[in-house]
Amino acid sequence: MDGDLAQAGAASSDIKKKLRQLGVSSELIRRTAISMYEAEINMVIHAGGGVIDVEILPHDIIIVLEDHGPGIPDVELAMKEGYSTAPHSVREMGFGAGMGLANMKKNSDELLIDSVVGRGTIVTIRLRIREAAS
Ligand SMILES: Nc1ncnc2c1ncn2[C@@H]1O[C@H](COP(=O)(O)OP(=O)(O)OP(=O)(O)O)[C@@H](O)[C@H]1O
Ligand SMILES: [Mg+2]
Repeated sequence: MDGDLAQAGAASSDIKKKLRQLGVSSELIRRTAISMYEAEINMVIHAGGGVIDVEILPHDIIIVLEDHGPGIPDVELAMKEGYSTAPHSVREMGFGAGMGLANMKKNSDELLIDSVVGRGTIVTIRLRIREAAS
């Protein structure tokens, strides 16, 4: 995926389709799509693009997003609702409320951010697939 905002979100909607075909609950599909979309957009806006890998295991959905952008100097601060370094041009498009990482945290079962300034960022999102009650 390159730095094209028009294309961002395409990967998360592909996964949505696949999960629907697999019979995953709509609630889990919604949480997966939100988490993945926010991470995808961040990679495009803040890091100029990167690579996404999605694994659908019997009990887990694992999404790994790797970029070679500027990295995040203070992850704890970046996680705070309302914190954003998005430039004016990006805010004009409706992004930059500083809610993405908080949304990812809220909607996933596990969020890991491994970031090195000057090197890049690896974001790992895990969602548990629960058995439907019978
Ligand atoms: N992949 C990334 N590479 C570098 N910095 C990032 C990355 N993802 C997030 N950040 C930093 O963390 C901040 C907070 O991210 P978050 O997604 O919460 O908000 P936002 O992207 O600025 O706004 P919103 O997601 O609400 O549109 C960003 O403004 C940016 O400084
Ligand atoms: Mg964001």
